[in-house]
Amino acid sequence: MMAWLSELWSGGTAAVEPATLRDATTLARIHGASFHRGWGEGEFESMLTERNTLVHRLRSGRKTIGFSVSRIAANEAEILSIAVAESHRGRGLSGNLLMTHLGHLAGRGVRTVFLEVEENNRPARRLYEHAGFTVVGRRERYYQQGGGEPLNALLMRRDLS
Ligand SMILES: CC(C)(COP(=O)(O)OP(=O)(O)OC[C@H]1O[C@@H](n2cnc3c(N)ncnc32)[C@H](O)[C@@H]1OP(=O)(O)O)[C@@H](O)C(=O)NCCC(=O)NCCS
Repeated sequence: MMAWLSELWSGGTAAVEPATLRDATTLARIHGASFHRGWGEGEFESMLTERNTLVHRLRSGRKTIGFSVSRIAANEAEILSIAVAESHRGRGLSGNLLMTHLGHLAGRGVRTVFLEVEENNRPARRLYEHAGFTVVGRRERYYQQGGGEPLNALLMRRDLS
């Protein structure tokens, strides 16, 4: 069944739930296809076992199609990575993933969340702005992209109450 049809079939939404060690391979595959420097399966396995790391998966039917990862230190957290598999992007699925993730961070006692985003990454910036994040800093030429020009990073923050 086509991806959008099966999403419609399952109620038009996708489930957001805690990821487990069994998800490591799939999450590494989605990460590798989404970012310049992909994280390997072993890196996901470590993050899925560390107590201070929170990992959620986005699931449509039986398929894992995205994830969010953050690291908690005392009452602050940093979102390390969030991605939706390319064939499922642009359908508004990321908002639920991020908001559920933030809800769990709040449940763990986190009061402030930070993240970094590449300045020209429109979908990610829209996602974070809609989720209540504001820009609190800018790092020039922060991301080195292959042979290209380094790209700027924005530091964003949101307080959880
Ligand atoms: C960022 C990402 C998770 C967003 O997931 P998504 O499910 O495609 O996003 P959504 O459909 O929920 O759309 C989020 C917002 O981006 C906008 N958007 C989506 N695709 C877009 C595009 N190609 N260009 C510009 N805006 C776009 C949407 O319109 C929406 O904004 P709106 O609410 O104002 O309409 C996804 O694009 C992704 O995995 N990207 C690669 C990894 C990445 O860059 N992660 C963030 C690192 S900081």
